[in-house]
Amino acid sequence: MAYQVIIPAAGQGKRMGAGKNKLLLELNNIPVLIHSLKVFEEDDLCEGIILAVNPLDVAEFKSLLKKNKVKKVLDLVPGGKERQDSIYNALKTVKNDGIILVHDAARPFILKKHIHRLLDTAQKTGAAIIGVPAKDTMKTVRDQVVMATVERSSLWAVQTPQAFRFSILYKAYERAEKDHFIGTDDASLVERISHPVTMVEGDYDNIKLTTQEDLFFAQAILKKRQGSL
Ligand code: CTP
Ligand code: MG
Repeated sequence: MAYQVIIPAAGQGKRMGAGKNKLLLELNNIPVLIHSLKVFEEDDLCEGIILAVNPLDVAEFKSLLKKNKVKKVLDLVPGGKERQDSIYNALKTVKNDGIILVHDAARPFILKKHIHRLLDTAQKTGAAIIGVPAKDTMKTVRDQVVMATVERSSLWAVQTPQAFRFSILYKAYERAEKDHFIGTDDASLVERISHPVTMVEGDYDNIKLTTQEDLFFAQAILKKRQGSL
C-alpha cells in the first residue's frame, strides 16, 4: 500500500555547531538532506514527500532538489518554532486518509526494508514506530544520585520513520495543540489520545546526526555499506 512522507527539515542544527543547517553538510559529496530523501525517491510505494523548510533555506533547498533530480516533493511548507509545529504545518496540506510517515531529515541511513516493515504494521494497527532495544544499562538520576536501575528489557531507543493512519495522527496533533503539549516524537502525541502504538525493530545504523561526533559514525556507516569497512 502506498504512503506519503513528511520530512521535517526546518531545524537550525544548533547542537551540530556547523554555522548552518546541518542538513546541508555533505557525506560523500552529497548533502545529508539528499541522502535522507533518496530512499523515498527510489521507493515505488512512496507517493509523495512533504518537506518542512525554514523560509531562509527555501532557495538553497529548491536548487538542491533540482540538482539532485528529486521529483517527489509535492509541497514545501514553512517550518515552525518546534519540530512539532513544522510537522503540523505539513499535516495540514494532506488531503486523503492514507498512511503517512514522518521521518527526520537528519536520519540519512534508513533502509527501504525497514520502511516497508513499518508500513505493513501501520496498515494493520494504525500507528507504528521503529526503534532498537536499549544496549546500555539505564538508571534514573536526580541531583547526581542514582534513584533506580530501570528494567532494560522493556526499554527501546526510538527512531524515525514513524507511521500512522493520517486521521489518527491529525487528531493527535489537534489534541496536542489544544492542550499546549509538546512531545519529543509523533508517537507520544498519539499515545495521549490512547491509540496503541506498535514497535517495529529496525537497526542501530539509523542514527540521527545531532552532534559533531555523529559525523564520524556516519562516515563509518557509509563505508560499511560500500563494503570498505
Ligand atoms: N526540525 C524542524 N523544525 C524545527 C526543528 C527541527 O523541521 N523547528 C527538524 C530538523 O531539521 C531535523 C528534525 O526535525 O531534521 C529533528 O530535529 P533535530 O535533530 O533536533 O534538528 P535541529 O533542530 O536542526 O538541531 P538542534 O536541536 O541541535 O538545533
Ligand atoms: Mg532540534
